[in-house]
Amino acid sequence: MLMDLFTPGKIGNLELRNRSIRAAAFEGMCPGHEASDSLLNYHSAVAKGGIGMTTIAYAAVNQHGLSFPHQLWLRKEAVAGLRRVTDAIHREGAAASLQIGHCGLMAKRSIAGGLPHAPTGGFNLYGPTFPVTMKESQILETITDFGTAIRLARESGFNAVEVHAGHGYLISQFLSPYLNKRKDKWGGSFENRSRFMREVMKVVKAEAGNDIAVLVKMNMRDGIKGGIDLEAGIQTARLLEELGADALVLSGGLVCRTPMYVMRGQIPPNVMGRYLKNPFMRIGVQLFGDLLMKPLPYRDLYFLEDALEIRKQVKLPLVYVGGVTSGETVKKVLDSGFEFVSMARALVRDPFFIQKLKAEKTAESGCMHSNYCIAVMYSGEMACFQDNPSVPEKWRKSFENNKS
Ligand SMILES: Cc1cc2nc3c(=O)[nH]c(=O)nc-3n(C[C@H](O)[C@H](O)[C@H](O)COP(=O)(O)O)c2cc1C
Ligand code: SF4
Repeated sequence: MLMDLFTPGKIGNLELRNRSIRAAAFEGMCPGHEASDSLLNYHSAVAKGGIGMTTIAYAAVNQHGLSFPHQLWLRKEAVAGLRRVTDAIHREGAAASLQIGHCGLMAKRSIAGGLPHAPTGGFNLYGPTFPVTMKESQILETITDFGTAIRLARESGFNAVEVHAGHGYLISQFLSPYLNKRKDKWGGSFENRSRFMREVMKVVKAEAGNDIAVLVKMNMRDGIKGGIDLEAGIQTARLLEELGADALVLSGGLVCRTPMYVMRGQIPPNVMGRYLKNPFMRIGVQLFGDLLMKPLPYRDLYFLEDALEIRKQVKLPLVYVGGVTSGETVKKVLDSGFEFVSMARALVRDPFFIQKLKAEKTAESGCMHSNYCIAVMYSGEMACFQDNPSVPEKWRKSFENNKS
């Protein structure tokens, strides 16, 4: 039976009022690593706009997992602020999910309290950072911190957590043969590379019990030779189903190597360069932006073919993400057998897009996938260029010309 966006749907024991989820998209609205009024206002607007569940992006499970000064750090001090945010979301009738993870090799030394931790140390050009190889004791402590994060998420009023096991963050760094070169029981075979994720899932599921739904965002492919390919993506999905995930969010790409694989299109290097604080990065991005963030053509539903392969292999609820911008694309996703549809840029463009779809099934979000919102995300402005009159005319024109 074909599903309608506005029928309720279940993830574990959690019932959502409809099939829409606001994807985790880093807000940069947590100065001092705690929730701010801007974070509350942004997510309550998305909730008011009719979303089934909104996801607060990227909370680090410990200090070592941090890479930005305005990033959430899940600890006791953050609970009261987060509780205000989840209360506001619930008042608007939506559920609240928290993405939890660890930046691993992408953590920033000045914020993370030391050199970044990674499955395998070396130089990371995209930081630039010099991560160190994690000791067994550090791996075990981090696993415990994922469990603690669930307790804090519950105290903060979240209905769900989304474990970030994709995009080249720590779990994905362990999974990826491109990034994990360890020779011990945490590296080598798929069995060994997936050990960290398996241990994390055990503590997460034990702590989540029956009242917190556990979603996992995972890579179907890393988008780089020597990384996770679709076959390994299928293995990951099957394993997560066995481990008791309540739903999978299907994505791909490594932010530290193939960032445009995640979102497609091009990040305007001149815009991104302007907003970066680190002068080395600013000049590097302005000069070599297209090399560092190699553009990849955008098309609507760019992950659909791979996601359909995963669909054939597992039975648990699947959340489709990637290039959903219109009523037509929402329908295609639901008609293809995915239980939920998730959007980032369409909702940055228009937090009320779901309401619009209720009024008119074929509505368009108006997102042109310029990726300006990604270039400026470190500035704490979760805004579309189309709503920002200070965006210079020449940028505006180039974004509009990029529309494919
Ligand atoms: C501004 C911005 C910030 C993002 N930050 C995150 C993040 O913190 N965690 C994450 O898993 N994905 C992040 N993403 C990726 C989105 O969740 C999503 O996977 C991707 O944008 C594709 O969906 P879309 O086509 O609906 O935008 C971000 C995307 C955008 C546009
Ligand atoms: S800035 Fe606006 S048009 Fe460009 S990708 Fe973001 S939401 Fe879409």
